[in-house]
Amino acid sequence: MALFRVGILGSGKGSNMVAIAEACAAGRIPAQVVLVLSDVPDAGILQQARARGIPAEYLPPGPFRTKLDPNAEAAYVARLQAAQVDLVVLAGFMRVLKEQFLRAYPERIINIHPSLLPAFPGLEAWKQALDYGVKVTGCTVHFVDAGIDSGPIIAQETVPVLPDDTPESLHARIQAVEHKLYPRVVGALAEGRISVKGRLVIWK
Ligand code: GRF
Repeated sequence: MALFRVGILGSGKGSNMVAIAEACAAGRIPAQVVLVLSDVPDAGILQQARARGIPAEYLPPGPFRTKLDPNAEAAYVARLQAAQVDLVVLAGFMRVLKEQFLRAYPERIINIHPSLLPAFPGLEAWKQALDYGVKVTGCTVHFVDAGIDSGPIIAQETVPVLPDDTPESLHARIQAVEHKLYPRVVGALAEGRISVKGRLVIWK
């Protein structure tokens, strides 16, 4: 049977992409990363993908800071469709996707966020958690909808906040958990074990 085809979008260093690609390469999940796209020309995620033989491309985002312009969005969708991806995985992609992108992949776009949503959506969620003084935070994998970090929740893992944490130490502890959770969710989607009814995500 053909492997489930995953396309990954990221703007940063790409550690989650690496975790997913390694789970695929090791045969731990029945999927393959077929394409990596970035809005940042020298992003680490592109270098990490190329080092693993995964096609990786910079696609210009257009003039906006927090979204893709409509032409750019069409180019991203066209590239993902040409690569026949079954699932779009956002891994540190710093732009909000708009309607034409969401319509092209209904319930087929997922994101990972470094907090226990709905707490601390938006930027630097680990720092928000530290500043707020919570004792437990974590990470959330969710389907992407038109809002910011607001789609149906697929899975969450907790991480303790320790008394001497800095933003960096807390973020590192969250990322270590992300690298286990995200491949697990991609594997479950590849195996058809996840369905969604409204806001409710059901694991089989
Ligand atoms: C992760 O911490 C993720 O939660 C957030 O962006 C970060 C991406 O890191 N959405 P990396 O590029 O996968 O290392």
